[in-house]
Amino acid sequence: MVHANGDCPMDAAARPNVLLIMGSIRPGRNSLLIADWIATLGRSCSGLACEVLDLADWPLPMDDEPGLPHAGQYVQPHTRAWSEKIVGADAVVFVTPQYNWGYPAPLKNAIDHLYQEWRGKPAAIISYGGHGGTKCAEQLRQVGAGLKMRMVATAPALTLPEEVIRQHVALDPAKDLAVHVDSIKQAFAELAIELAAAA
Ligand SMILES: Cc1cc2nc3c(=O)[nH]c(=O)nc-3n(C[C@H](O)[C@H](O)[C@H](O)COP(=O)(O)O)c2cc1C
Repeated sequence: MVHANGDCPMDAAARPNVLLIMGSIRPGRNSLLIADWIATLGRSCSGLACEVLDLADWPLPMDDEPGLPHAGQYVQPHTRAWSEKIVGADAVVFVTPQYNWGYPAPLKNAIDHLYQEWRGKPAAIISYGGHGGTKCAEQLRQVGAGLKMRMVATAPALTLPEEVIRQHVALDPAKDLAVHVDSIKQAFAELAIELAAAA
C-alpha cells in the first residue's frame, strides 16, 4: 500500500530494486531528466526502489568477449561487473529514445554483453520521441522476448514536444509529460505484480 503522501510502508531494505536503464548516452540528452522523473514517479506510486543507470558510466566496448554470452564465461572485468549489476536487479525498466525507428546502439550492446542475466527478469519499456518511440519499443519488446524476459504489457510511449527536439527548448517532464503519468503508474503496477509473482 502506498500512503497518500507517496511514502511506502514497506521496509526500505525489503523493497525490490528496479534499475532504470537509460538508452541514450549522447551529450545534451533528455534521458537524464526523463529517467529521473520516471524514477521519482515509480518510487512514489509503487514503493519499489528505483535506481537510474546511466550506460555512459558503464563503458562496454563492442564485441570484446571471445566467448558467447550465453556461457557466462566472461574474461573482461567490465563485463563481469555489468553481469553482477544486472543479476543484482530485481527488475529493469528500459527508458529509451527512438533513434531512426530503432533503439540506440549502446543499449543493444549492453544487452548483448549478457544473456542468462536477463532471463526471467521482470521488465518494462518506456520509450520516448516525437511520436512516443513506439517503433523502438516494439523492437525492444521482441529482443526481450528472445531473452525470455518477463515484459509487462503496458509500454508508456512519451511524446516529446516538437520544440524540445528541434529547437532544444528545455524539457520540463512534470509539465510536458504529465499526460503520460497514468500509463507510467500502470507499468509500475504491472511490474510490482510480476515481482510479487517471482518472489
Ligand atoms: C540519432 C537520432 C535519431 C532520431 N530518430 C528519431 C526517430 O526516429 N523518431 C523520433 O520521434 N525522434 C527521433 N529523434 C529525436 C529524439 O526523439 C530526441 O532527440 C530525443 O531527445 C532523443 O533522446 P535523448 O535526448 O535522450 O538522446 C532522433 C534523435 C537522434 C539523436
